[in-house]
Amino acid sequence: MEVVNVELGARRYPIYVGAGCLRELGTRLAETGCGAGVAVVTNSTVADLYLERTLASLRDAALVPTAIHIPDGEEHKNLAWLALVYDKLIDAGVERGGAVVALGGGVVGDLAGFAAATYLRGVPCVQVPTTLLAQVDAAIGGKTGINHVAGKNLIGAFAQPRFVLADVETLRTLPRRELTAGLAEVIKYGVILDPALFELIEEQLPAVQRLDRDLMVRIVRTCCTLKALVVGEDETESGYRAILNFGHTVAHALESLTEYKEYLHGEAVAIGMVAAVRVSRRLGFCDDGDYQRVRTLLERCGLPTEVPADLRGEPLALAMRTDKKAHGGSIKFVCLEAIGKTRFERLTCDEIAKNL
Ligand code: NAD
Ligand code: GLY
Repeated sequence: MEVVNVELGARRYPIYVGAGCLRELGTRLAETGCGAGVAVVTNSTVADLYLERTLASLRDAALVPTAIHIPDGEEHKNLAWLALVYDKLIDAGVERGGAVVALGGGVVGDLAGFAAATYLRGVPCVQVPTTLLAQVDAAIGGKTGINHVAGKNLIGAFAQPRFVLADVETLRTLPRRELTAGLAEVIKYGVILDPALFELIEEQLPAVQRLDRDLMVRIVRTCCTLKALVVGEDETESGYRAILNFGHTVAHALESLTEYKEYLHGEAVAIGMVAAVRVSRRLGFCDDGDYQRVRTLLERCGLPTEVPADLRGEPLALAMRTDKKAHGGSIKFVCLEAIGKTRFERLTCDEIAKNL
């Protein structure tokens, strides 16, 4: 098992990455000195696959786990299901010294992480991500929260987990489309921060898609290292952490225009990254070679790369203007200079839309 540390002073924590390491969850949690009463928050799909072995690992370490189920789906990342989680935590008698284990993808991780951050004014949370997107992104960095009818992730808190445990073997049961969407976020790290990671995916894509065990441990560990560096530098996104929003301006606009029904998040990010590189090329920041490399790799993964014709121009500009990160019609846009090198540019939403 590999270990990457998120360096946040007193709130420093490890990310464990391995193949088959779920069985070590109980030992790792017991090592933190946590009390016996722990709650495992998960959803119905993940429960069928991994709950029994998760509970067994916790019991083997003399912990006393209770399972809390929420239904599968982004539409359940809301106040009603959060309230149910609070009820179950109270029923189970989970105490301050206990812990909440989030077992699942980013939906479970965000909701359970927020429950842990607020229940009893905060109990320790452990993230056990089971999607590629959650292993390389959502489980790390302490962004927790739920959706509101007025928008995604409008209610939440920064609350770092006690540790993250990513078992790449759990990715074997992930639907292919989800895996591919997660790959878009992996490629994002390569594009913005790590040319060697980008090249590795270019060269080893078939092995990645076969989920070669050693390769997946290496890739997830590399992404965790990169995210840990960014979070260690700017925990609450006062500046540098916004680099992770590369491709996300257009992605969020597309998701909102299609009411979150058309694209998985990673798919929208793939389109958004190509759009961001195209804008960067038009503005003279990067060359055509880099544009082609990014686009080709995403296409080889089977990801979409084009904004649909009916959403280009004004609809897209309007959706970007209503993004919570836009101010006065402009946005701090992450542009590409070269693979592994970015720059922030304040661009108007019209300028972005017209340069696509
Ligand atoms: P998800 O949690 O909905 O999981 C995707 C699907 O895969 C679900 O149906 C889930 O039940 C299923 N699944 C999970 N693990 C599985 C496994 N091992 N085998 C089979 N099926 C499995 O989606 P996601 O892409 O993991 O996360 C998206 C969420 O993450 C969004 O709510 C987004 O806002 C949030 N997010 C948060 C952060 C953050 O920093 N906190 C970052 C990115 C995204
Ligand atoms: N997913 C982007 C971030 O954690 O900042």
